[in-house]
Amino acid sequence: MQDSLVSPDNLQIIHKGLQIKLQVEEIKKGLNCHNKTISPKFLYDEKGSVLFNQICKTEAYYQTRTEKRILESSSKKISEILGRAVNIIEPGAGNMQKIRTILDVYQPLGYLGIDVSQKEITNAGYNLAIDYPRINVIGVVGDFYQIENEDLEQWLPNSVPRAAFFPGSTIGNFEPDKAVSFLKRLGKSIGQNQFAIIGIDLKKRTEILNLAYNDPEGYTKDFNLNVLQRLNRDYNSDFDLTKFKHRAFYNEEAGRVEMHLVSIANQMVSLGGDIFKFKKGETIHTENSYKYSRKSFSSLVQAADFAIEAFFTDTETYFAVAVIKFSPQKT
Ligand code: AVJ
Repeated sequence: MQDSLVSPDNLQIIHKGLQIKLQVEEIKKGLNCHNKTISPKFLYDEKGSVLFNQICKTEAYYQTRTEKRILESSSKKISEILGRAVNIIEPGAGNMQKIRTILDVYQPLGYLGIDVSQKEITNAGYNLAIDYPRINVIGVVGDFYQIENEDLEQWLPNSVPRAAFFPGSTIGNFEPDKAVSFLKRLGKSIGQNQFAIIGIDLKKRTEILNLAYNDPEGYTKDFNLNVLQRLNRDYNSDFDLTKFKHRAFYNEEAGRVEMHLVSIANQMVSLGGDIFKFKKGETIHTENSYKYSRKSFSSLVQAADFAIEAFFTDTETYFAVAVIKFSPQKT
C-alpha cells in the first residue's frame, strides 16, 4: 500500500502503542531463570514473520494448509453459527489472510484485527477493506493484552454481538493455565453466549511432529536463531549466532513440541546492562507448542467457561478448528 493512497471509507486504523521498557525487563527476567527462556512473541520481528511464512509453505509443516482446508470446508457452517450481524475480533491478526476464508462465504458487519506489527495492520487492513467494501475494517496496532474492554467499547458498538477468531494454533503457545486466562479474557471481550473460533494442532505421531519443527529446508532453524539477532538489534545484546544451535522435539509427557537454542560453548552475553552466562549445552527455551486432543481441548475451554459448539477436523485428524461458546453461567 502507498501512504499517499486515500484510505477507504470502511477502514479505520488505531494505534495503541507498545511499551518497550517492559519488554527489556521481561527478556532479562527470562534469561535470569534457572531454565533460561525467551517468550515466543519475540520470534516475530519483520524477518521472523517472513521466515514463519516460509515455514508455513513447507511440506513438513502440515498445519497451515490443513487449517486452511478445514476453514474452507466449514466456513459455511461457522457462518451459520455466528450469524451475519456480528463484529469479528482477531488478536494477532498478522496478514489477515485466514479470515478471508470466512469473509468469502459471508459478510459480517465488521472485522477488528489486532497486531503488534504496524506494517501488517496498515497493509493488511487496507487490502481487506478494499476487497470487502461492505465490511467495516478496524486495524489496531497494539498488544491484545494491553487492550481493555473499554477500548473495545469505544471501537465497536455494544449492541452488536461479537465473535473472536484465533486461528493458527497460536493458543498452543500458551501454558495451559495461561491459555485458560487468555480464553477468559477473550470471553469477557466478546460477552456471554458469544462464539470464538479457535485453531488447534492435534496430538499425533512423534515423527510427524518432530519433522514439522525440523523442516529439511531449515526455515525453522533460521526462525529460531533469528530471535537472537532480533534481540541484538532491538535490545543491544551481543549474542553470537554461530554459538547457538536449533533444537526442537516433541515432549510426549508434557504434550508439547519444545523449541530451544542450545549454547555450543561456555559463553557470556550482555543485554540491557547485564551479563548472562551460558554453559556449553545449556539451552534457551524459546517456544512451547501444545498439542491437544478433542478431550483435552474440551477440558481446557471448560476451565475458561466455554463449551464446544462445533469441532471440525481434516480426515487425518492432524488439526482442528473449534467453535466454542462463552457460557459463564453454566459452571
Ligand atoms: C504459530 C505458534 C502455531 O507453534 O507451530 C512454527 C510457531 N514455531 N514453527 C507453532 C512455529 C516453529 C507456530 N505457531
